Amino acid sequence: MNIPAQQDGTPEQLSVFGPLGGYAPHISILVSQLKWMRAVLLGRLRSLSVDQLDWLASPHANSIGALLMHLAATDAYYGLNTFDGVPWGRFSDAARQKWAVAMNLGETARIRFRGFELDYYLFHLSEVRQHTLIELSGRGDDWLMEVDPTWSWGPTNNLCKWFHVCEHESHHLGQIDLILKQLPGRQNTAKRSLQKGQASRTALGVALRRAAHQMYDDAPLVLHDSIVVPLLQTRYASALADEQSRLQEQSSLLMRAWLVARNRFAEDRLAKSFADGTRQCVLLGAGLDTFALRNPHPGMEVYEVDHPATQTWKKELLGESGLSVPDSLHFVPVDFETENLSERLQAAGLDVQRPTVFAMLGVVVYLTADAFSETLKYIASLPKGSGIIFDYALPRHLLPSDEIDARDELATRVESIGEPFQLFFTPEQMKAVLGAFERFEDLDDQELNRLYFASRSDQLKLQGRAGHIVAAFKEM
Ligand SMILES: C[S@@+](CC[C@H](N)C(=O)[O-])C[C@H]1O[C@@H](n2cnc3c(N)ncnc32)[C@H](O)[C@@H]1O
Repeated sequence: MNIPAQQDGTPEQLSVFGPLGGYAPHISILVSQLKWMRAVLLGRLRSLSVDQLDWLASPHANSIGALLMHLAATDAYYGLNTFDGVPWGRFSDAARQKWAVAMNLGETARIRFRGFELDYYLFHLSEVRQHTLIELSGRGDDWLMEVDPTWSWGPTNNLCKWFHVCEHESHHLGQIDLILKQLPGRQNTAKRSLQKGQASRTALGVALRRAAHQMYDDAPLVLHDSIVVPLLQTRYASALADEQSRLQEQSSLLMRAWLVARNRFAEDRLAKSFADGTRQCVLLGAGLDTFALRNPHPGMEVYEVDHPATQTWKKELLGESGLSVPDSLHFVPVDFETENLSERLQAAGLDVQRPTVFAMLGVVVYLTADAFSETLKYIASLPKGSGIIFDYALPRHLLPSDEIDARDELATRVESIGEPFQLFFTPEQMKAVLGAFERFEDLDDQELNRLYFASRSDQLKLQGRAGHIVAAFKEM
């Protein structure tokens, strides 16, 4: 948090609450609290764009912009009430005209507060707060203790009213934080790991879970992968051992079930495409996927596309483990947020006149909406029989309440390692996005459980609605 400077240029001791020059002793403490809260709020808003300030997590949600005006309106109304003695609800027409929409939020506020730069909101917050501070500086502590016997929740003094302003700001800051986490296309203020040239750590996390499935889960395995353990063993032996110690934890079981199911589904659909005559496949964001090294389909060429940093790391692991790379595997280093995927694939030998099947597992949630839609557009331009298999995640507001904590925890974890979640879809949105693909399957946890976990006697199975897997193909 930045410590603001005082007017004389010395830094303000924001975390040393009262006494402050110019205020009565108890008012000083209140002012310190208001300033502290506001500094935390402003720290969250740095460099938000107009689109981000306007963004709605759902059609009935509030934008960050509207919430900021709501905070300014609250300051203004509490000022009118406590400084000017205007009874709550009897504000002048001029005051209502200025603040009522922001105070009431909802549809009118969604319409009114759109298209403004951050400075617009900062100006209103600051203007009202300046007025509040001037008013507070002119009052004594006896004013702070004055009780309003008519207040809606019972007799209340001015200190309690202004404490409420502060607490209300804290409440809405929590809401703003949640919106910030879900903003599509939001780049972390800290540069993302892949942009910094670091290999994907989420790719390691998911590969470790697939390896744990091979090493520790009961037969029959959902996914047979003879390569993932040797690939990881040399460098990550202790991480593999750690996986065993938390094997039966609920979160570990659910994550492992999801990861093996999505790879199994993708490999089943790849086999179907092969049976239908497709001889090219592209793994987008391949990470440490080992399909290309186990490829059972003679004549199927596999193009592994990944961020250059992740791909370099994978090649190092392959070298260290002594695994041989088949001629049918082509490495294509591409950052598909910034580079042209089709050009790079063609340069690597992909024949765009022939059908191609793409798999993109564990990737969509990390992409920007633009990168995802460009990728789909490109695949839709390829010959009949081409298609894509990928997984996606439902937006937070569609999750049942018992899954929200797990989502937040995972989102915080991946953000902390520099690979933040940023793209979510409802099933309806996904269907609309895939309009160019005539054959379309969208499976949820129940369908995947029926397919892959129905006859298991252990605890390994999917639970929870957050993840879906899609296969979308052009008609043959
Ligand atoms: C969670 S990992 C999944 C890896 C693999 N598909 C699997 O399931 O094991 C996400 C992968 O997406 C890749 N990725 C993310 N953003 C990318 C980008 N902009 N360009 C290329 N690859 C990207 C990462 O390098 C990483 O390999």
